[in-house]
Amino acid sequence: MTTMARQPSVASSPSTDPLHLIDVDHVRFFVGNAKQAAYFYAHVFGFQIEQYADLTTGSRDAAHYLLTQGNIRIILTTPLTVDHAAAMETALYGDGVKDVAFTVFDAGAAWERALRNGAMSAAEPRTVTDEHGSITTASIRTFGRCIHTFVSRTGGYELTKVKQGGAFAPRFAKSPSIGVNEYNKANPCGLKYVDHLVGNVQLGKMNHWVRFYEEIMEFKLFKHFDDKDISTEYSALMSKVMSSGSGLIKIPINEPAEGKKKSQIEEYLDWHQGTPGVQHLALRTDDELHSIAELRRRGVEFLNIPDAYYDKVWERVNTMLTGHGHQPVKEDHARIRDLGILVDADDEGYLLQLFTRPLQDRPTLFFEIICRRGSQSFGKGNFKALFESLELEQARRGNL
Ligand code: FE2
Repeated sequence: MTTMARQPSVASSPSTDPLHLIDVDHVRFFVGNAKQAAYFYAHVFGFQIEQYADLTTGSRDAAHYLLTQGNIRIILTTPLTVDHAAAMETALYGDGVKDVAFTVFDAGAAWERALRNGAMSAAEPRTVTDEHGSITTASIRTFGRCIHTFVSRTGGYELTKVKQGGAFAPRFAKSPSIGVNEYNKANPCGLKYVDHLVGNVQLGKMNHWVRFYEEIMEFKLFKHFDDKDISTEYSALMSKVMSSGSGLIKIPINEPAEGKKKSQIEEYLDWHQGTPGVQHLALRTDDELHSIAELRRRGVEFLNIPDAYYDKVWERVNTMLTGHGHQPVKEDHARIRDLGILVDADDEGYLLQLFTRPLQDRPTLFFEIICRRGSQSFGKGNFKALFESLELEQARRGNL
């Protein structure tokens, strides 16, 4: 028997920081058809369709699919009733990220602290308990249509148990044995966890959301190589990176800037009702070449990197690396070019990255596949190459 109750206000232990983020509990997408989207992300990106909640499990207002890969948990939610929040939002925004949820010690205490810091509530604390354990959730609003939910878990619903295959939440059931899950176990794509996620906000609003993450979430402005020359004639965006106090997650905030052509941020906002949202999720791999090769084989559409990029990249990157006492890029340079992977370096090391095309028909949310070899930055040196490529894509869509 499942019971729901308002979570009483619980005073946290003074040694326990309420806004200490333990993990990315999950990222929730609102989608038009979760059942079909689940098979897309499973077949094309190698996610396990691990659990589901729908009419057959007692979930009567929405259907949910838990997709997992490494420590990445994506919940695909689709409305079953017209008054579910996802019904209006999928009409307005298409498929995309609604919620970036964090595991904390005490969700009620985290929510109260965030509200004291000035947050707007999106959902009050609520505890769901059954014979396996309990889950408390409480949510605050962030940029545009997005929220952050704080999640605390006990008993069988503790995240360590979920990672071992335990139920994600009440009313979730294990997926039946299906071929794509077996195939993905035998042919892994190697995606490990969410490295960072980027919020697109309106012109002039970047610093507002930087302050939001500083004051409400108690994040810090992350100082890194990229912010030395944040805006170039090609970049047409401004970006500041916020880092959680625990170092769990980084959230760059982008706003459009004056450029020669319509910027990618403006295009996103145009197709998102002018409402801020998550532009991309960066998924971390330890082996970029393997991950990109496998994802390409499965049909992932990546941005095309112009051939000319590889004429210059090795000198730029390897000079930076050796100048700071690091070894040059160890991965096979010809394979990097053949796979169309981007490379960048800073004073701490290098990174390999590549961006997918939009994951749905609207030019909104996409994934980045990233591998870090010491570098903690975000690929600033690739902005020019990337933007030239993005402009070609925008022109193909008639949005330039
Ligand atoms: Fe990124």
